[in-house]
Amino acid sequence: MPATVVVGTQWGDEGKGKFTDLLAGDMSMVVRYQGGHNAGHTLVVAGESFALQLVPSGVLYEHVTPVIGNGVVVDPRVLIAEMDMLESRGVSTERLRLSGNAHLILPYHQELDALYERHLGKNKLGTTKRGIGPAYADRSMRVGLRAQDLLDPRIFRKKLGAVLEHTNKVLTRVFNRLPVDADEIATEYLDVCAPRLTPHIADAVALVHSELDAGHNILMEGAQATFLDLDHGTYPFVTSSNPVAGGACTGAGIGPRDINRVIGIAKAYVTRVGSGPFPTELFDEVGDHLVEVGQEYGTNTGRRRRPGWLDAVMLRYAARVNSLSELAITKLDILDGLETVKVCVAYEAEGERHDQLPYHQSVLHKSTPVYEELPGWKTDLSEVTERSQLPAEAEDYLQFIEEQAGVPVGMVGVGPARRQVFNFNA
Ligand code: IMP
Repeated sequence: MPATVVVGTQWGDEGKGKFTDLLAGDMSMVVRYQGGHNAGHTLVVAGESFALQLVPSGVLYEHVTPVIGNGVVVDPRVLIAEMDMLESRGVSTERLRLSGNAHLILPYHQELDALYERHLGKNKLGTTKRGIGPAYADRSMRVGLRAQDLLDPRIFRKKLGAVLEHTNKVLTRVFNRLPVDADEIATEYLDVCAPRLTPHIADAVALVHSELDAGHNILMEGAQATFLDLDHGTYPFVTSSNPVAGGACTGAGIGPRDINRVIGIAKAYVTRVGSGPFPTELFDEVGDHLVEVGQEYGTNTGRRRRPGWLDAVMLRYAARVNSLSELAITKLDILDGLETVKVCVAYEAEGERHDQLPYHQSVLHKSTPVYEELPGWKTDLSEVTERSQLPAEAEDYLQFIEEQAGVPVGMVGVGPARRQVFNFNA
């Protein structure tokens, strides 16, 4: 049985966690394939809210094996804190598996993330300062430490010593900071973290393929989103991994033919945290409405998200680079009460119209949106449980999205709870 991928189509915070959680009910395994604790998912189950950063959403189902794939960068201290939180609330984390090939975030990654941001000054990327970029950089430089190194103290210390020779020079000579102490890190990671994580560290590729071979359904969960993708996003204002559907292959060890369904999650409007171009960004009271009603503040960092109208140019691009089979539209209810709703159908830059995303950043930076304006609806959508209950204006809005993106809308979310989702094309 093949795999389903859930991918964000905008700049993250589309509500992937909620859909992953819902879909996980029919899966035997949920695999997180990239990112780290820069992500934040809030799930509401039976009135209880769970904020997850690293543990895949499927952990809330007893029949699901949650797996952190090799493409994820893991701060063991954060993972353990999250496991403790879940256990203290009665959710077992016994089934959780962590790929031995996943790279570790070490304390100096976090310090370097903050230092690089400060160094960039007004050109800063607005990272989450969780050490994500520096950890992936060490991976690419082939000096990173991996989860499997926690199982071998001698190797762990040797690799740590080697990487610190360079890193401490950067910290002391470039940034005028104190060097980090290898023994201190080794004590915390080997004496405190390793014993706790050892039972969970596994050959994740073998686990994933035994599920596929057994004919079970598995779900690949991405963090962040298409426009934060290192290759396909608005570089350099991106994260340091590949959230696009292809990232599920490299980040979990499957091939493209193992995937048969790619669900693109799109919020009914757009938000972005951190710096970077955003053609449909709103600075008016509609933007305030989206932020306040939509509670658009980072789960993780508390930062106010930048709001904007839905952008069909982005959706078309996301459809291409992810080979989306369907869209899931989230937070449609947040548009309730607006007189009109706008959708960006193309960009205009230097007198030229762009129906597809301009590849050149300078053009994107100059792009202004070409909008189509649709009538809004006054109805409260939060209680809608099927398509037939939608007001005509909301039905038209969803159909317009399908036409513009060239992808059918599958599920639609109208509130945070599991029950507040209906099927648009059942
Ligand atoms: P980093 O991933 O911490 O390196 O941050 C790089 C960029 O990605 C910044 O603009 C962050 O705000 C953004 N980013 C990272 N994770 C998320 C997320 O889960 N949601 C939204 N934006 C994110």
